[in-house]
Amino acid sequence: MIEFQAVRKQYPNGTVAVEELSLSVETGTITVLVGPSGCGKTTLMRMVNRMIEPSSGTVSVDGTDVRDRDPAQLRRGIGYVIQQAGLFPHRTVVDNIATVPLLAGETRRAARDRAGELLDLVGLPADLGKRYPAQLSGGQQQRVGVARALAADPPVLLMDEPFSAVDPVVREGLQDELLRLQDELGKTVLFVTHDIDEAIKLGEKVAVLRQGGHLAQYARPDDLLAAPADDFVTTFVGRDRGYRRLSFVDSTSLRPHPVPTVRVGERFPSSHDWRLAVDEGNRPRGWLPPDSGPGDALDEQHLVAGGSLHAEQGNLRGALDAALSAPSGLGVVVDRDGGAIGVVTADEVLSALDRQRAAT
Ligand SMILES: Nc1ncnc2c1ncn2[C@@H]1O[C@H](COP(=O)(O)OP(=O)(O)O)[C@@H](O)[C@H]1O
Ligand SMILES: [Mg+2]
Repeated sequence: MIEFQAVRKQYPNGTVAVEELSLSVETGTITVLVGPSGCGKTTLMRMVNRMIEPSSGTVSVDGTDVRDRDPAQLRRGIGYVIQQAGLFPHRTVVDNIATVPLLAGETRRAARDRAGELLDLVGLPADLGKRYPAQLSGGQQQRVGVARALAADPPVLLMDEPFSAVDPVVREGLQDELLRLQDELGKTVLFVTHDIDEAIKLGEKVAVLRQGGHLAQYARPDDLLAAPADDFVTTFVGRDRGYRRLSFVDSTSLRPHPVPTVRVGERFPSSHDWRLAVDEGNRPRGWLPPDSGPGDALDEQHLVAGGSLHAEQGNLRGALDAALSAPSGLGVVVDRDGGAIGVVTADEVLSALDRQRAAT
């Protein structure tokens, strides 16, 4: 079991990411942390494997305070999967998966054999093993990320928005696959998402977080839907706003507005606002946080990963998804060529839904 006891995290700049939060995650189940971007999900999750230390309170795994564990040894028992899989671009798929068993002292041969078994386990054909990550689709890369996390057969899996960057259809396939795997493997999974539908589908229990790392409600999905604890949860679960209908409503009534942009590789002045970083084709590359700059050449290091993108011709569900997953709270709308057109907020998406309903 993973247990958070009165955990608080304040970053050196004063930001309180998690506020006095207590939560227990049952062994052998999928527990989901859900909430809008910036509410402290990643911070909370990274305290489990000691990538981040709490300012106060304790995190324990199987009854032992993680501070009493050696970080390297602790992490061997915890698989970690992130958005866009975080694969090593210059290693083949097999070598990516074999990394952990090799570190754990297995022979090259045994590690590669294990990688082959894992490819099969996550539903990928063996011949993909020789490819490099860039030669795979987004969904395939995510599967490889899961296979790599499972390579050392850890009892615990941390999954931080693993499926957020893939489109909704592929995402559903990955979710089904995770449920199938979990039936087979029975891991203790802590899964982070901003997507309430994903949370409800995957979670045996769901913790809804709101800004400032407050736990708004921790309940089984049915109870969350039937009895939301407060207005925040009601809005987030979207029962009264017909959130579930969003997928059926096109986004033509949305009016994206302009957002300040900065180009990767170019000079950037200082600013108090979030700025969208784009490449030479105006395609989004991530977000530059407020109070960054000035700088001579913008590169990936300055950026916070962006959320999912909303294709102009898509539905309101995709637009809300984009807004909730962006660190700026601004969902990026792109045209058919992937170029940024503008941004929308979650409130604007929900207002568009209200307008559309009023009109029908
Ligand atoms: N290293 C850091 N220094 C300062 N603030 C941070 C740092 N990492 C995250 N934050 C801030 O803490 C809050 C929670 O961040 P995070 O845990 O990444 O949220 P989430 O994963 O829910 O999007 C946000 O306001 C974020 O900007
Ligand atoms: Mg996060």
